[in-house]
Amino acid sequence: MTQHRTVDVGGSHLYRITIGPGLLDDGALLAATLRGDAFVVSDDAVAPLYLQRVLDALSAARPGLRIGHWTMPAGEGSKTLATFGQAIDAIASAGMRRDATVYALGGGVVGDLAGFAAAAWMRGVDCVQLPTTLLAMVDSSVGGKTAVDLPQGKNLVGAFHPPRAVLADTAALRTLPARELRAGLAEVVKYGAIVDAPFLDWLEANADALLAGDDAALAEAIARSCAHKAAIVERDPYEHGDRALLNFGHTFGHAIETSQGYGGLIHGEAVAVGMVQAALLSERLGLSSAADTARLRGLLRRFGLPVEPPPGLDPDTLLAHMRLDKKAQSGGLRFIVWDGAGRARVLAGVPESEVRAVLAG
Ligand SMILES: NC(=O)c1ccc[n+]([C@@H]2O[C@H](COP(=O)([O-])OP(=O)(O)OC[C@H]3O[C@@H](n4cnc5c(N)ncnc54)[C@H](O)[C@@H]3O)[C@@H](O)[C@H]2O)c1
Repeated sequence: MTQHRTVDVGGSHLYRITIGPGLLDDGALLAATLRGDAFVVSDDAVAPLYLQRVLDALSAARPGLRIGHWTMPAGEGSKTLATFGQAIDAIASAGMRRDATVYALGGGVVGDLAGFAAAAWMRGVDCVQLPTTLLAMVDSSVGGKTAVDLPQGKNLVGAFHPPRAVLADTAALRTLPARELRAGLAEVVKYGAIVDAPFLDWLEANADALLAGDDAALAEAIARSCAHKAAIVERDPYEHGDRALLNFGHTFGHAIETSQGYGGLIHGEAVAVGMVQAALLSERLGLSSAADTARLRGLLRRFGLPVEPPPGLDPDTLLAHMRLDKKAQSGGLRFIVWDGAGRARVLAGVPESEVRAVLAG
């Protein structure tokens, strides 16, 4: 029998992350926290691959269960208030009641949107995250942040709504496009950069295995990333302090994504560029060294990730997006700065001139 790995998230909302192959067919595990009806949200790339399997497994575990499902177009462009409204319509039309569970089957886009729908429907029903991208397994499915984007910026409307459970079926990664796998590795590198220097060594040593989709290497990277995310979220569920460290590279990254109208770099790629920009900013501020930046850049490059902003982006537009980023507060720009491998912190009041210098290359 396959051994699953588990990571427990503590604090005021307890839940378990289970990691291993075959979980999407495991009816008992899928239904373990189910109290009433079930509603599965997915996207049109993931649903043809996995939706029926999840529906079958749930029905087998709970004969007579009322299950609804709804599928949205794949991609960041779907993370809108309009699509959120459609999800709520579908949940309402299926007659989901107060004790229903919403299952989010897909990547971070499905997870964020379905999680937000679960947070809002009847002021909050249970949500079980079934992440199918590496990025969703190591980051977005854990911690309870849910949101949709606005034209003005990423994730501007949403809610904190921790899941009841997270089931990461590592076998689903076999159908994930290579570009998406690499994008997920950016968030994995982030944990090494901000809190776990030895993890950076491990990633350098295991880069080839990870890129080749080696099951054991991926499971180790996912479990270690989830353990870091769980520990941070447990300490600071609502991002009043430490949790902001998870946004390393994201202020630059979100500004790039927004400037490109969510149609250029995908999220993990934008975060890869953003982490290098944050490292360059930290270097300018005298906090980290050029060697630190070079090491980070080298590892991201090895994972096939972009490390420079796409050409043609206007620094003024990027800065305008940064001012609206949730990490910006009334006192000026706030960044997650880097003190070198395994150490990061929040720095408020960063002069715009320094940021502009980084953006200008
Ligand atoms: N809530 C959080 O804490 C948090 C953290 C990080 C990122 N995010 C959000 O996550 C989103 C990015 O998530 P993502 O990178 O997973 O993107 P995504 O959800 O768009 O998925 C990427 C693509 O892969 C496809 N796909 C997913 N699983 C597949 C599989 N197993 N086989 C084949 N195709 C598959 C999807 O249909 C999609 O086309 C962004 O919106 C970002 O803001 C949220």
